[in-house]
Amino acid sequence: MLNCLVTVLGVFICVPLLLFMAAPYIRRYIAGGVCKSTAKLNGKVVVITGANTGIGKETARDLAQRGARVIIACRDMAKGEAAACEIRAETGNQQVIVKKLDLADTKSIREFAENFLAGLCCPEARLQSGNSLSCTYGLDQFYPTTLPAILNQEGGHTVASGLCQTLPCLKRCCLVCLHDGESPKAAVLDWGEEKELHILINNAGVMLCPYSKTADGFEIHLGVNHLGHFLLTFLLLECLKQSAPARIVNVSSLAHHGGRIRFHDLQGEKCYNWGLAYCHSKLANVLFTRELARRLQGTGVTANSLHPGTVHSSLGRHSILMTLLWKTFSFFLKTPREGAQTSVYCAVAEELESVTGQYFSDCRPAYVSPQGRNDELAKKFWNVSCELLGIQWD
Ligand SMILES: NC(=O)c1ccc[n+]([C@@H]2O[C@H](COP(=O)([O-])OP(=O)(O)OC[C@H]3O[C@@H](n4cnc5c(N)ncnc54)[C@H](OP(=O)(O)O)[C@@H]3O)[C@@H](O)[C@H]2O)c1
Repeated sequence: MLNCLVTVLGVFICVPLLLFMAAPYIRRYIAGGVCKSTAKLNGKVVVITGANTGIGKETARDLAQRGARVIIACRDMAKGEAAACEIRAETGNQQVIVKKLDLADTKSIREFAENFLAGLCCPEARLQSGNSLSCTYGLDQFYPTTLPAILNQEGGHTVASGLCQTLPCLKRCCLVCLHDGESPKAAVLDWGEEKELHILINNAGVMLCPYSKTADGFEIHLGVNHLGHFLLTFLLLECLKQSAPARIVNVSSLAHHGGRIRFHDLQGEKCYNWGLAYCHSKLANVLFTRELARRLQGTGVTANSLHPGTVHSSLGRHSILMTLLWKTFSFFLKTPREGAQTSVYCAVAEELESVTGQYFSDCRPAYVSPQGRNDELAKKFWNVSCELLGIQWD
């Protein structure tokens, strides 16, 4: 009886104690690969989709820390500006900008690309009337304390207040608000003339959505995760080529192993499973990257895809079960910052300068499913994607 009691007590004390002692090692194992590159990105321009939260936001934070001009491309401007504000404050890099992009709407994707290529990467600011000054996206709420410092650094000049006019942003200039405590003033910052794009990170994604369609009638996973990024890349590619060396990073997933390209029912109208739909779209990311890399040989633009790991983010928000599971087991999941490591690695690592068409996980090459390595499939799917989007991409 006593023996039994000692054993039970031993188990109840020893197991939790052992787990407690091993916890830091378990965490380190789960955290996975770390990007060790110390590359600086001053003068480089980066676009990251879905960077208002999760892995994308942490990727943006890291690249901003390295000095890049980071364009957060997201569908919710308020969320995007909150993320940008946080990153600007933490990194001291004021060139973190938010631009509207809804990947579930090809009109929005075209508008984003048009604005970007026209050099309109800054939010539009408006001098309303008299002394009242307002900026779209509430820049006045975010800049007041940092602006004088930026003006000194960047040599911006002030614009007289009291005018009633609209001042759209110029190429790399932006009208911003300055509150000096008494009356609001406006200032124009000049960020230089170059119109380049060095790193495009196709990160945004949806998972486990109930059956729904994008504005253009595409099944939501296929439309947002694959076709939206396919079109965005197509529209920005010339700029990437002109800015070479440049990199395209497509955030896929281990889930691509479960994916199939179901040409007979791409929109899932005959048969739909929300989990499989996500897997199909992630396989689409891998195939797109493979074919894109092949077509970009010799241009100085590389394309790689990756699995970020299993990350505690809001990706599972459409499923109550998934949200509960991720909350319960969050200890065993990567944090978004850990999940961003492979994206950052693909974007900056010096040793990947001319590496293209590869798939990474934990900052090293990883195993691709047989479907994901099928070049014929990649070519055929490329053509079908072009047809769906009504574009000609030779
Ligand atoms: N988390 C994981 O375990 C995991 C594993 C493997 C792969 N991934 C991949 O990692 C990427 C990032 O996911 P995450 O985990 O960081 O998820 P997340 O926190 O949910 O972030 C997803 C981002 O995509 C954006 N987005 C969704 N639909 C959009 C649309 N129509 N237009 C523009 N942006 C849109 C979201 O914007 P809103 O905030 O406005 O919704 C959000 O910013 C995804 O491609 C995902 O497939 C994640």
